[in-house]
Amino acid sequence: MTKKLWGGRFKKEMNKDFYRFQQSIQYDWRLGMYDVFHSLIHIRALVHTNVLSASEAYKLERALADILKEIQSGEFRYHPGSEDIHTEIQNRLETRVGEIALKLHSFRSRNDQIAFDVTFFCVHEAQRIFALLLALQANLHELAREHKHDFFIGYTHTRRAQVIRFSQYLLGFESMLHRDQHRFDDFAKHTYVFIGSGALAGSYIKSEDYTKAITRFTHTYCKHLPVKISLVKNSLDNVSNRDTAIQFLSHIATLQMHLSRMAEDFILYSTPEFAYLELPEEFCTGSSYMPHKKNPDFLELVRGQTGRIYGNLTALLTTMKGLPSTYNRDMQLDKEPLFSSVDIIKEELTLMAEFVKGLNLNRETVAAVLKDETLYATEIAEFLVGKGVAFRKAHEIVGKLVMHAEDNEVRLTDMTDNGLKTFSEHLNKKVLHKIISPAFAVSSKRSLRR
Ligand code: ARG
Repeated sequence: MTKKLWGGRFKKEMNKDFYRFQQSIQYDWRLGMYDVFHSLIHIRALVHTNVLSASEAYKLERALADILKEIQSGEFRYHPGSEDIHTEIQNRLETRVGEIALKLHSFRSRNDQIAFDVTFFCVHEAQRIFALLLALQANLHELAREHKHDFFIGYTHTRRAQVIRFSQYLLGFESMLHRDQHRFDDFAKHTYVFIGSGALAGSYIKSEDYTKAITRFTHTYCKHLPVKISLVKNSLDNVSNRDTAIQFLSHIATLQMHLSRMAEDFILYSTPEFAYLELPEEFCTGSSYMPHKKNPDFLELVRGQTGRIYGNLTALLTTMKGLPSTYNRDMQLDKEPLFSSVDIIKEELTLMAEFVKGLNLNRETVAAVLKDETLYATEIAEFLVGKGVAFRKAHEIVGKLVMHAEDNEVRLTDMTDNGLKTFSEHLNKKVLHKIISPAFAVSSKRSLRR
């Protein structure tokens, strides 16, 4: 147990096990950088308020700069006895600069610090996730470009539907990731990190003094880390706001749902039963018992992580439900779900970007399936519409035609002109030969820009 930030009104020592139970340093050390940022702003506000002299502020800032360097270089090690990151930094400052450090907490509270730290973390991580998303999208784009002349089979209800391009299939994923990209971008651009709540009621520091301190900090630190910091609007709400974190977790959950669906598709289409895709071997594992196996474990783990990521969102929503006004200690439990989801999603995005580079299309299997003439049934109906047949009629005609072919085990392209005429006067051998082709099917989709 290191020196605590409180204790004056207590007669008894804290129960050791309870002390451990309520510690958060083992995970909130990750917020160190943001906590230093809070202090850097607060110090300047205290100078304007005449609580700190210029030279005291300078000493504190120098010591904080050293701590920041340690944090940014990855050398930062917390004292396992510290209660939390705020206490850890306060104690370090006291060791380095002595008594002055004890002034730093004037007119601020950990409740304000933690709201600031958590929000700053979310915004910063949203920017990182955004960058990783761009990289994955770029690799999908590249793969689509390499395959721009290849066909693929489009499914609905996991049943063969219509012919598509393989590039179109891949860009379908890119398109859903594009929405995620916008969500994280909006989140990073429009989320404010507030300061100045005090414990809940506000701070003795004048708003203009805080604002000056914020502006100074922003000029120095936010060039490479574009984050909007502002004087708090409602202090009560700010110390108890975790919906920013919830929104962030929900964006991660949606992105995870997309990655999971992508994983599922790649698993399915690479089974020997489909065999459309060949997975990169570096991302597969073997079986300890069955020598022939090449298992899609990477994809299965991506799909499996959905449980944890949805769970993390549900955990925080549930923690927040029913909390009375302003800060409650329950809110300390926001960190682990938050860190867990951020770590998982970043790892998945990094790996998935590599994975898609090695994805191979099995052109032979696809070509064999493209011979299935039912894949062109919709295009035949569309042809009839072009000839003036009402679509519902055309649908019926082609339905009957397909049934006839199935019942009589005959290919549509082998049927005679006379046979075809019994279904529609517009159908003949030549027409069907033209329509039943992958190139015709994809080029007839004029709504798509190529
Ligand atoms: N460790 C706390 C958290 O993460 C920081 C705020 C503590 N405030 C308090 N009054 N105990 O929420």
